[in-house]
Amino acid sequence: MRPWLPERGLVLEIASGSGEHAVFFAEALPGLVFQPTDPEPAAIASIGAWAAETGLPNICPPLALDVTQAEWPVAEADAVICINMIHIAPWDATLGLLDGASRLLSSGRSLCLYGPYRQAGVSFAPSNQAFDEDLRRRNPAWGIRQLETVAHEAELRGFRLEAVQPMPANNLCVRFVRD
Ligand SMILES: C[S@@+](CC[C@H](N)C(=O)[O-])C[C@H]1O[C@@H](n2cnc3c(N)ncnc32)[C@H](O)[C@@H]1O
Repeated sequence: MRPWLPERGLVLEIASGSGEHAVFFAEALPGLVFQPTDPEPAAIASIGAWAAETGLPNICPPLALDVTQAEWPVAEADAVICINMIHIAPWDATLGLLDGASRLLSSGRSLCLYGPYRQAGVSFAPSNQAFDEDLRRRNPAWGIRQLETVAHEAELRGFRLEAVQPMPANNLCVRFVRD
């Protein structure tokens, strides 16, 4: 994601989970300030513990943020990143993420997503098929999303799909840029 992010500014991370990604990114990209968030109190505690352990100056204290809520605790950002959320949350979370990111980001700024996707014209890997079945068994509202459907909803909110980067284990990094 390095070339997709600005050299300086605030990166809002959605669904930070344990916080390990936030500290990894903050260490690797010292010109950026990372704002980790998650709706789960246990995740907030874990993020805070990781940030304290590493003592990095460019991680803000974690904030509670549920993307399906109309009010977000952050008013603007220079980039938004979201790793491994949209398949492990109801579809409303994807739409909430796109709504919020379109409010926060100004023209030319990036929304970066990471995770597994279905893609038109690309065979669905057996490992992703098994993962998708497991997700839907755990919660019928979860499941691996079709990239084209996510991109369509993003376009309706003023984003264009700029890049799709294949990653190990049949995951993708996806960059949307705010028009
Ligand atoms: C599989 S974990 C991914 C955590 C981390 N990004 C990672 O890759 O390890 C999914 C995360 O999505 C968060 N999440 C679920 N629904 C959400 C929502 N409506 N708004 C924001 N985050 C949400 C969960 O709390 C959880 O931390």
